Amino acid sequence: MGTIDLKQLLESQTLERCPFPIPVGWYFIDYADTLKAGEMRNVFVFDQEWVLFRTESGKPGMTDPYCPHLGAHLGHGGKVCGEHIRCPFHHWEYDTEGWCKNIPYAKLMPPIAKKQAILRALPMVEKYGMMWAWYHPQCEPPSFELPYIPELEDATGYTGSRRGSWTADTCIQEIAENGPDVAHLKFLHGAPIIPPVQTTYEGPVMKLDIGQGYIQGTSYGPGLNVMRFNQHGITATMISYSVPISKEKTQMNMSFRHVDYAEGTPELAASKKVIDHMIGAAEGEESAGFESVDFIVWNNKKYRPNPLLCDGDGPVLQFRKWFKQFYPGYENSTKI
Ligand code: FES
Ligand SMILES: [Fe+2]
Repeated sequence: MGTIDLKQLLESQTLERCPFPIPVGWYFIDYADTLKAGEMRNVFVFDQEWVLFRTESGKPGMTDPYCPHLGAHLGHGGKVCGEHIRCPFHHWEYDTEGWCKNIPYAKLMPPIAKKQAILRALPMVEKYGMMWAWYHPQCEPPSFELPYIPELEDATGYTGSRRGSWTADTCIQEIAENGPDVAHLKFLHGAPIIPPVQTTYEGPVMKLDIGQGYIQGTSYGPGLNVMRFNQHGITATMISYSVPISKEKTQMNMSFRHVDYAEGTPELAASKKVIDHMIGAAEGEESAGFESVDFIVWNNKKYRPNPLLCDGDGPVLQFRKWFKQFYPGYENSTKI
């Protein structure tokens, strides 16, 4: 008998479930119509609380809750005043970029307040009828833009109001890794074969082709993924926009869209069928939808930075290498 590699057998004891920091990227915060001009509310994402507000002119803002003056929480008693958010304690006011714009009783502004924003504010855009925030741990400005998505922005050609939200007890990278992990499609989801897969990587964009054009997906950083399912001559689209709640909790959000085919056409029936299948709502389907089976795995697994892979596995390691760019400062980490 040779000696046993104990490290192999005992490694799982030292693994963390989710050893990752919050990844850099654009993230969905909420649907635009949930926040009216002059409103504010507290939201918990990226492992901390934030104050989300909309100015009177309609601009969204999202800031750290704690006032740079004496630390009051802007989201408890604060108020939107014109284009600013006002602290309840001594009425200092901040704009959507975090610059202090007014201290009602000061003759002189603190010097730093003239040079830079003093309250952390996340860059925000509104697109696809949604509010998006840019997260970077060192507050660097956006390094890429959100793409044009015809299914969401070309109002005349597409339809489909179905959308959903689910919470998974894992991090965003573990969820995204399901894309290149094509072997699980057969064994967890019951696909008839392990489909061939190809991935290409360019900066923050990853393209995924599963089953030679059957599923074509594009990820724009960690927070936006567009998957087109081509089947029976139609295309049904799943737009997925997950947001990290904490290091081990992710809110998954999805919209399902298809071409606006006429009522009663086989194309409309096929589109609806593909979408039912995606959501796992179809009855009598042999293959389970993602919300039942994937969650059992995600919610309980640990991340193995050095997995044992076999020749039939998809490009999991290439995917991980691509994803690492969203963890600045962790380039040499062996844990991720
Ligand atoms: S603590 Fe916010 S104005 Fe004083
Ligand atoms: Fe899956």
